Amino acid sequence: MNIEAFRARRNRLLAQMERGVAVIPTAPERARNRDTHYPYRFDSYFYYLSAFREPEAVLVLVAGDEQKSILFCRDKDVEREIWDGYRHGPDGARETFAFDVAHSIGKFDEMLPDLLANQPTLFHSMGHDDAFDARIVAALNRVRANTRAGQHAPTQIRDVRAMVDEMRLIKDEHELATMRRAAAISAEAHRRAMQATRPGRHEYEVEAELLHAFRRGGSEFPAYSSIVAGGANACVLHYVENDAMLNDGDLLLIDAGCELNGYASDITRTFPVNGRYSGPQRDVYQLVLAAQAAAIAEIRPGRHWNEPHDAAVKALAQGLLDLKLLEGSLDGVLESADYRRFYMHRTGHWLGLDVHDAGEYKIGDTWRPLVPGMMLTVEPGCYIRPADDVPRAFWNIGIRIEDDALVTADGCELITAAAPKRIEDIEAVMRDAHQ
Ligand code: GLY
Ligand code: MN
Ligand code: MN
Repeated sequence: MNIEAFRARRNRLLAQMERGVAVIPTAPERARNRDTHYPYRFDSYFYYLSAFREPEAVLVLVAGDEQKSILFCRDKDVEREIWDGYRHGPDGARETFAFDVAHSIGKFDEMLPDLLANQPTLFHSMGHDDAFDARIVAALNRVRANTRAGQHAPTQIRDVRAMVDEMRLIKDEHELATMRRAAAISAEAHRRAMQATRPGRHEYEVEAELLHAFRRGGSEFPAYSSIVAGGANACVLHYVENDAMLNDGDLLLIDAGCELNGYASDITRTFPVNGRYSGPQRDVYQLVLAAQAAAIAEIRPGRHWNEPHDAAVKALAQGLLDLKLLEGSLDGVLESADYRRFYMHRTGHWLGLDVHDAGEYKIGDTWRPLVPGMMLTVEPGCYIRPADDVPRAFWNIGIRIEDDALVTADGCELITAAAPKRIEDIEAVMRDAHQ
C-alpha cells in the first residue's frame, strides 16, 4: 500500500481547511442477528484519508499553525486478538499509516473538547450516524460550558464530506491502478458466467461462478448485490432473488462487480441462456449497444455530465420508433418522455470507493463538466414488459449493457472492456464453452 498517497490526501484536505478541526469516524460494526455481524466494511471517507481498515476508529485533522493528523483506534489486546485477529494499536497504527499522533479510542470522548476548544470551525458531516453526532454535540457543549475559563467553541460547522467529495471525484494514479484491477476481475467473472450458463441451470449457480471469480481474483466482497436475472426477471431493475431456473430462449441479465481494496467495479452484460440471440433479442441488443456507443462518444473533457445520458436517450428513442414500439416523431417522443416506459433509469453514476460514488452532478444549476480522472458508468438499457400494444416477440426482453469509463485527456477509456460485449464475441465465448 502506498501510505504516502493517503498522507498526501490528508495534507490536501488540511490545506483547504486552513484553520479548524475535522472529525471523521469510520463505520460502526453492524449486527446481522443475535451475535453475528455483517462482514465489516470501513467508511469510504475515513478510508480515503487514512488507509486504516479496523473498526472503532476516528481520524481527527487539526489545521492551522500546529497542523497534525491524529488517529484514535483500538488498543492492542492480546486476549481479543486471539479471538478476532490482529489489532495495530495506537503506536503500531501511527507508525504504519504515518499519522502524527495516535491515541486509544477509549480516550476520544475525553480528549475531543480540548481538540475543539478555541478552534474557529468544526469540519464534520452531521446526520449520518446519530450516536456519533451525539458524542460531537456532547464535546461541543463541554467546551461551551468552559467559556468562563476563557475557552470558546467553534462557531461554524462545515460539511467535511462535501470537501472530500470533490477530491474523491478525481481519481489519482493509486486509485486508478486499483480500479483497473477490480475491473479486470469483474470482466473475468462475467466471462466465466457466460461460459457456465445453460438452459436448466439456476440463476444462483451462475451467481456462484461470479463469486468464485471475484474471490479468486482477491476481491473481498461484491461491490453491491449481484443481479442475475433470467427472462422476465431482467425487467425488475433491482432483482436480487437470483433463484429462478434459466430457460431456453430467454436472455440472462447480469449486473455484478467486485470490490477490491475498497474500490467498486460495476458491469452489466446481457446474453442468451442458450448461447444464440433470437431475432427480436438481437434487434433490441443492437439498439442498446448503439445507445451505449452514442453515450460513450460524449464522455470527454468539455462535455457535461448529462450529455452521455441525452445521447443514449436519443438513440434509444429513435430505435424504439424504428422497432415500432413507440409511435410519433423523435422530437415528440423526447418531449413527452414516452421512452421512459422502456428506459426509466439514468445512463450512469460516478464510481469509486462507493458504487454510486461521491460527488455532485451539478454545480449550482448547471451540469458538471467532465474532466480527466473522473470515473463513471455508462449503462443504458431497455426493458419491455408484456402489454397488449407490444408485439409478443418482444415481451420480457430486458437488456442493459454497462461499462466503467475513465475520462481521459481526449475521450474516455473503458476499463471494463475485457468483458465480452459484441454479439459475435459473446456467442463465440458461449459456443466454445458448450463444445
Ligand atoms: N449495479 C448498480 C448500478 O448499476 O448502478
Ligand atoms: Mn451502475
Ligand atoms: Mn450495475
